[in-house]
Amino acid sequence: MMFPRSEWTIRQATPADRDDAARFLASAHRRHLHLDWSQPLELVGSAPFLIAQRGRQWLACLACPPDPVDVAWLRLFAVAPGAPLTPSFRKLIQAVVPEVARMGTSRISALATRTWLRPLLEDAGFAPTNEMIFFEWDGGPLDPVRQSTIRDMLPEDLPEVQAVDERAFQPPWQHSQKALEQALEAAALASVYELEGQIVGYQISTASALGAHLARLAVEPRYQGRGIGRELVLHALTALGRLGLGRMTVNTQADNLPSQRLYQSLGFRETGMRIRLYERFLHV
Ligand SMILES: CC(C)(COP(=O)(O)OP(=O)(O)OC[C@H]1O[C@@H](n2cnc3c(N)ncnc32)[C@H](O)[C@@H]1OP(=O)(O)O)[C@@H](O)C(=O)NCCC(=O)NCCS
Repeated sequence: MMFPRSEWTIRQATPADRDDAARFLASAHRRHLHLDWSQPLELVGSAPFLIAQRGRQWLACLACPPDPVDVAWLRLFAVAPGAPLTPSFRKLIQAVVPEVARMGTSRISALATRTWLRPLLEDAGFAPTNEMIFFEWDGGPLDPVRQSTIRDMLPEDLPEVQAVDERAFQPPWQHSQKALEQALEAAALASVYELEGQIVGYQISTASALGAHLARLAVEPRYQGRGIGRELVLHALTALGRLGLGRMTVNTQADNLPSQRLYQSLGFRETGMRIRLYERFLHV
């Protein structure tokens, strides 16, 4: 089936498109999803979520809602069987760039979770800027967790946790409070480290049939290098181990040497899996 490009229209999805989106994603020929802790259909009400269609038929869709405001992650791209891959992506990116720039975003960031995505990103003006590297811990002896002020994270901690996150990470890696709220809801264990009543570090871990995953770890910059990150990871490994989770995965940036040293010193080993980060800067 061929789709002459002159007949394409591009429009913003509305909440009424949810059912069509579900059907389209289920039957898509190629699909990239990078959702963190949300569900694909939650994106349908967000902007920009653009649909390229011919008549009423969906050809492709792409979502990259800015969150936080400065960064629009490519959360979803899907293309119908028979629709041209590279032109679909190029056209949708061309349409979202002014949208997200108007919203105050200065970059679109994309994890090339699939190899077919790389040439599309390069064609659409993205360049590789970093890489995610993956580690796993498969059990083994652990130091005892020191007597410290680590406690369960509560929903009311989120503003303080988000402030630590924003100071500890650089763009595009910071999370909004909404994203952290979703992470907390999805967590098997979420903990904060307190010093004199102030949150100075936190970790969020999830669990699946495959084991635990350290989804988020950060320490307030002025308290880094004092063993707090190490205590938080040890605490997570120990507490999740008691729940029968004897394996943990984590990923970090290729240029983030402090976190890599921390994981390696605790017995995590690199798996060899790598995912490239591509970015397009918008010069707003
Ligand atoms: C990574 C991070 C959580 C580590 O927390 P921390 O409290 O500073 O780490 P610790 O003091 O417990 O250090 C533990 C080990 O990490 C390594 N490490 C920590 N800071 C380091 C630095 N600046 N340079 C090199 N290695 C460092 C060392 O191996 C250290 O062990 P050592 O003290 O025996 O040398 C913290 O640096 C941070 O929040 N960074 C920004 C956010 C981030 O990168 N999160 C993880 C991404 S997945």
